[in-house]
Amino acid sequence: MDIFEIDGPVKLSGTIEVAGAKNAALPIMAAALLAPGETVIPNAPNLADIRSFETLLASLGAAVGRDRTGRLHIDATTIDTPVGEYEIVRKMRASICILGPLLARCGKVKVSMPGGCAIGDRPVDIHLRGLKALGARIYLENGYIVAEAPPGGLVGAQIFLGGPFGSTVLGTDNVMMAATLAKGTTVIESAACEPEVADLAHYLNAMGAKIRGIGSPRLVIEGVTELKPVTRPVIGDRIEAGTFMVAAAITQSRLHIRNCDLDNMVAVADRLRSIGAVVEPADDGCNVVMSGAIGPADITTQPYPGFPTDLQAQFMALLALADGNSVITEKIYPDRFMHVAEMNRMAANLRKEGPNVIVAGVEKLIAAPVMASDLRASAALVLAGLAAHGTTVVQRVYHIDRGYENIEEKLNGVGAAIRRIDV
Ligand code: EPZ
Repeated sequence: MDIFEIDGPVKLSGTIEVAGAKNAALPIMAAALLAPGETVIPNAPNLADIRSFETLLASLGAAVGRDRTGRLHIDATTIDTPVGEYEIVRKMRASICILGPLLARCGKVKVSMPGGCAIGDRPVDIHLRGLKALGARIYLENGYIVAEAPPGGLVGAQIFLGGPFGSTVLGTDNVMMAATLAKGTTVIESAACEPEVADLAHYLNAMGAKIRGIGSPRLVIEGVTELKPVTRPVIGDRIEAGTFMVAAAITQSRLHIRNCDLDNMVAVADRLRSIGAVVEPADDGCNVVMSGAIGPADITTQPYPGFPTDLQAQFMALLALADGNSVITEKIYPDRFMHVAEMNRMAANLRKEGPNVIVAGVEKLIAAPVMASDLRASAALVLAGLAAHGTTVVQRVYHIDRGYENIEEKLNGVGAAIRRIDV
């Protein structure tokens, strides 16, 4: 099992390249199931979650692999086992997004109920509500969701996908993918507006789907009789980009971050500017410059275009060093605070009060052995280690490898001192 040893404090400088977006690539890999033939994603990131999804697609009957240039090929001509096995699904929540495409393609699908995870419960009730509205019969059998389309196929409908925490990203993906092959028109109200959902919709339209309202909370989908596979890159990963923007700010550095689009990071840039960072668009991404005191800021996570929950932990590491007190409120996953206790071990002063954390800024963080718990909390501990005095040891680095491609190589390339050690 790998650990990271991180020497700090460090100054960073130079350019970091952001990979293709994990949360766009995963549902787009599922969309490949809608069309017999070969889909190619030229820039699918090389991550543990992507490899898990490749295994899942292969278990369904697809032929999956990367060519020598690293392009990901998915041939979904043969789908002979439309079953998402528990052993695979339990490791990755995103597996649930094979439900919609397989229901539309095969008429019947079984997918294991995803378990909970470190960031909280991960219900799928809204997914199921949406697929039922399209005419599917859905029932639970031994921990598996079984979904069956009516004999004549799915039928378009008006569907509301709002829930207690806003819309659902993968739920919108599931229902939108199923609706592309339904008879008639589907209107999804309270659709998720995340850029990764929009990227999937553009991908589906390139395959021959007819989706309007992309990027808005109201999607109108006219069903078609077939879709064709395409070759198309995914957008840059805005969460990886935001993580590196915080790396620049927490180390009082200047970084050029390539392959990201500030137009889909307005809330993130707003909070960075509010704490005193300079964030400027660059031709292929952005520049982030931080020098001087980090100002306090209040952050509330919300559905897009609000502040993304996937950057909450990273900003907590930054605000732990602010010149004043901040309040972070988590409105998407109220329990997404596994990083609080670990950062307090590094001499941060964080106090959880329900869905809020009071962040009392401290002069400095002190290196310590800490435990990674989930993908983004782990990245936050790496960021804290860049600024902490001494050598921070982060255990269970496999959490980070789920969503960041060679994070230590990218950060070392701009001046960090991170050692990956197999213990
Ligand atoms: C996606 O998860 C992302 N994952 C998550 O990123 C991200 O944190 C999340 O969206 C929110 O932005 C992928 O895209 C693979 P949701 P998803 O359904 O779709 C509740 C990462 O770090 N809800 O939008 O599973 C749910 O409990 C990961 O890359 C229901 O109540 O999230 C949560 O409180 C972590 N019923 C809220 O909605 C449902 O049927 C948002 O969940 C579905 C969701």
